[in-house]
Amino acid sequence: MKLINRAKFSATALTLAAWLLVPAGFVASAPAYAKTSAATRPAVLTASAVAVADKYSADAAAQIFKEGGNAVDAAVAIAFTLAVTYPEAGNIGGGGFMTLYMDGKPYFIDYRERAPLSATKNMFLDSEGNVIKGKSLYGGFAAGVPGTVAGMWEAQSRFGKLKWKQVLAPAVRYARDGFIVDEQLARRRAEASKEFDGKTNFDTYFGEMKEGVNFKQPDLAAVLTRISNQGAKDFYDGKTADLIAASMQDGSGLITKADLQQYKAVWREPILADWNGYRIITAPPPSSGGIGLVQLLKMKADLAPAFKGVTLNSPQYVHLIAEIEKRVFADRAQYLGDPDFYKVPVAQLTNDAYIAKRAAEVNLTTPTPTADVKPGLGTSMPEKAETTHFSVVDKWGNAVSNTYTINGYFGSGVVAKGTGIVLNDEMDDFSAKPGVANMFGVVGSDANSIEPKKRPLSSMTPTILTQDGKVALVIGTPGGSRIFTSIFQVINNLYDFKLPLAQAVGEMRFHHQLLPADTIFWEPYKPIDGELAKQIEAKGYVLKGQGFSGDIQAIKIDGKTPDAVSDPRGRGVARIIQ
Ligand code: GLY
Repeated sequence: MKLINRAKFSATALTLAAWLLVPAGFVASAPAYAKTSAATRPAVLTASAVAVADKYSADAAAQIFKEGGNAVDAAVAIAFTLAVTYPEAGNIGGGGFMTLYMDGKPYFIDYRERAPLSATKNMFLDSEGNVIKGKSLYGGFAAGVPGTVAGMWEAQSRFGKLKWKQVLAPAVRYARDGFIVDEQLARRRAEASKEFDGKTNFDTYFGEMKEGVNFKQPDLAAVLTRISNQGAKDFYDGKTADLIAASMQDGSGLITKADLQQYKAVWREPILADWNGYRIITAPPPSSGGIGLVQLLKMKADLAPAFKGVTLNSPQYVHLIAEIEKRVFADRAQYLGDPDFYKVPVAQLTNDAYIAKRAAEVNLTTPTPTADVKPGLGTSMPEKAETTHFSVVDKWGNAVSNTYTINGYFGSGVVAKGTGIVLNDEMDDFSAKPGVANMFGVVGSDANSIEPKKRPLSSMTPTILTQDGKVALVIGTPGGSRIFTSIFQVINNLYDFKLPLAQAVGEMRFHHQLLPADTIFWEPYKPIDGELAKQIEAKGYVLKGQGFSGDIQAIKIDGKTPDAVSDPRGRGVARIIQ
């Protein structure tokens, strides 16, 4: 248990440790978990709620709640539906993280992709040791072994109330009967077609997708029907496993049937921290996001006197936040990787005294020179911004915060032949070469080098805040290295500036990550321009636009009433379901 306040939470740690020792895996039959009694308890909220990336997944969740399902049933239905209707990031060909709060206890499933068995440290380097451009982004070599089906199977087997087949039903229907393609998806598809042109088989499956036209995916419908009938076994050890492995047998990638058979989702201890009267439950390594979020929130709290009277998103606010962020990113680059391969110093990085020491290093007036910002624990990051997140609460007070990804929109651009499954390009989240930036412009160390079965470092930060044991906020977003800085800003907007949820999500967001030096990234949704831009530049910063704005999905609960907001930057839907 990564407890920030060890004494206070030791009892929880023991209880949770007992669960976490249960070995997890997709396995052929359902894991022998005793089902939670959650859904048989009386309702504690006025309604269930979802904030999701599209309307089809909101409809799927509504159906599941109507049939008596709980938050996990709804979450699994949403995940499979998005794999069909939000194919640019929803997936079964990728992986992710799920943070859960069930019956008053926190849980976390790591279903991140793993490097194939034959992956090697230098597989993306040429004979002179230089990174081969594009090899970790396009085509079969870019794909890690997918974990989404295993993760959903674990969650639903342990906590779901409905039958597996019932929660798969909406996805099967959308794949078989089709759904109407909206403008954003059609645009992203067209951009992907250009990007993958001549490199992958993307257009064979998606070339015909057009705005306003019904899009059917018969191969994917067949896969989902098999998974619906046979469980995760089909994906990891059945016909679907055979088809995925066959799609690489021509030497175009590394994933074999053995890779799929050996894949395991893992129940991990979530990061727990106390902040501002709330308990934060968030993602542990191999995500950097949970540690990053805790460091950001606590460093800002330590600097409360410096923030006093500073207006939200003013030049001084941007400066102070950037100073905090550069220290968090220095640690990220040095210390974070897959905890199964590398001992991540979680307790030290989230220790109050350590964070206070880092806060004391912040220069209150001018940017600290980049070269002077070293990793705080002594002697060195990678990720695409796309991904997708959804947040769910049920009327029994359970919550699921799930972020999953195929990395870039439409992942590697490879569709496993005969399956309609878009394979990820998560191998780009490894450090192909320490010190060389990945597509997010972040650099990494040996902690995140490629090894067989290792999970690449992520920034996904599915987060739940509780107060007095009750869910207060469920939040997450896509955005690569921008994920935890975005969540951090929305939490500040909500709790420090007391903005209503919709306004907190809609506010301008910005990002700094140590490198490139003194650079503040702004988003197209609310650009930094005019007088604000001039004043930030006068402080010594360079302003740079980034193509991506994030897509926060958040549910806030005041008393017994949930309020849900889907980021106006995306095509998501928030729904309160009676
Ligand atoms: N691929 C983005 C992330 O895992 O953070």
